[in-house]
Amino acid sequence: MQHIDVIESSRLKVQKHLDSSKTPAERNKLGQFATPGALATDILAYARKILPADLEIRFLDPAFGTGSFYSALLKTFPRSRIASAAGYEIDKQFAERAAELWRNEHLELTNADFTKQVAPPSDRDRANLLICNPPYVRHHHLSNDDKNRLKISARRSAGITLSGLSGLYCYFMSIAHSWLAKGGLAAWLIPSEFMDVNYGRAIKEYLLNQVTLLSIHRFDPADVQFDDALVSSAVVWFKKSSPRPDHFVEFTYGGTLTKPSMSMRVPASSFRENAKWTKFPQNSHAPAPVQHEITLSDLFTIKRGIATGANKFFILTPERVAELKLPKKFLIPILPSARYLSSDEVLADHRGDPLIERKQYLLSCKLPESEVEANYHSLWSYLESGKQQGINEKYLSEHRSPWYSQEERQPPLFLCTYINRKSKTNGETFRFILNHSKAIAANWGMSPQTPSFQSCRAWLLHTPAKQRYGNQLCQ
Ligand SMILES: C[S@@+](CC[C@H](N)C(=O)[O-])C[C@H]1O[C@@H](n2cnc3c(N)ncnc32)[C@H](O)[C@@H]1O
Repeated sequence: MQHIDVIESSRLKVQKHLDSSKTPAERNKLGQFATPGALATDILAYARKILPADLEIRFLDPAFGTGSFYSALLKTFPRSRIASAAGYEIDKQFAERAAELWRNEHLELTNADFTKQVAPPSDRDRANLLICNPPYVRHHHLSNDDKNRLKISARRSAGITLSGLSGLYCYFMSIAHSWLAKGGLAAWLIPSEFMDVNYGRAIKEYLLNQVTLLSIHRFDPADVQFDDALVSSAVVWFKKSSPRPDHFVEFTYGGTLTKPSMSMRVPASSFRENAKWTKFPQNSHAPAPVQHEITLSDLFTIKRGIATGANKFFILTPERVAELKLPKKFLIPILPSARYLSSDEVLADHRGDPLIERKQYLLSCKLPESEVEANYHSLWSYLESGKQQGINEKYLSEHRSPWYSQEERQPPLFLCTYINRKSKTNGETFRFILNHSKAIAANWGMSPQTPSFQSCRAWLLHTPAKQRYGNQLCQ
């Protein structure tokens, strides 16, 4: 049997290859956005904390992909504890490659539409650990026939009546109910929008009335988990058992699943009273923490680096700018990831351009398409090439007008990187950088390419009204 790390590294290669062999439209149609390995590992580690130590696991992933959760399962639990493991995958290519990858393991992988399968009739054959990142397919991509079929299956399986505006993930959750054994544990990595939108009401009722909701972790929307899907996501944990009337739900937010930046235990009754769940845990009724010390936010205005939604398209090297003949007026200097800054001080030339080795520019233009087409042919051609790659349809682009304009930012005087590994040289986790240039900074978020928690993000510390303190802090 091969070591799991070896298979995992092959799996990541297979995933990358399959992702790149498909067009964005094809991937959207089947919701093919893989879970980053680090997040899958966090999820399984959390499951191990909750599950009884002697439980023999019957694992199910109804939307298997290449098996990021199965891989994390094998890494987290000894094989002696895994009684069975099953997965469903609709895409033949994914299913074949996954079957090949995991051929030496005891995995029952079926190439089929999970929503059309029949759940095992006996509780003994149902899963007691169900982990799923279901396809995020919006309702308008589901045909009426499919919607009708899915609605019937959801009602049969969990008694849930879903609205026609529900995304496919809501049907997955409902249908999977009858695949989970009594007392079984489920984790769903789903878009957090169900917490607030009308169509999510049926799911919320299910979570409050039919199962015991254990916890919900909501990722910070700016901390995009899947850089190509760009939806803010949540991990919902529940047990298939009737809820006690007085039970509490752990609600966490930001940071990571294992190290959230906010956490709060909320009585289930509070959820019933509140239509919008994203208010937890920040705007809770809990008393504000007593401030004993001056914090960074007392001294600075803190902002995350700019999120473009498609750094590869919008952030360009000088060579690429020259090759594309892009007009200078639409280019803003932007700093590279902090790991490429050798010094903690960024000096500038007379124009304000940073004096650094790895120069790069952010493309941003506020002119309407008609004007770009008429007056800036090279930019027009580049934007057209972006459209062919579906950049204009990505989440952040779609929410900007025009899609190629970026949020306006003043260059920050200070930058702070966080979620770094401790430096080997000075033992520090945070790094502060003094920026004399006109360059702004990007949010180097988690992406499948950058190992999630080692990536640097920039926080921009703006100091207009607080300059005096800011300077003192950094001296
Ligand atoms: C969001 S991806 C998750 C993949 C993998 N479990 C992971 O976390 O990386 C969803 C997967 O479900 C598959 N899928 C989409 N519709 C499906 C269906 N009706 N039945 C089974 N699999 C489906 C997609 O092809 C895709 O591989």
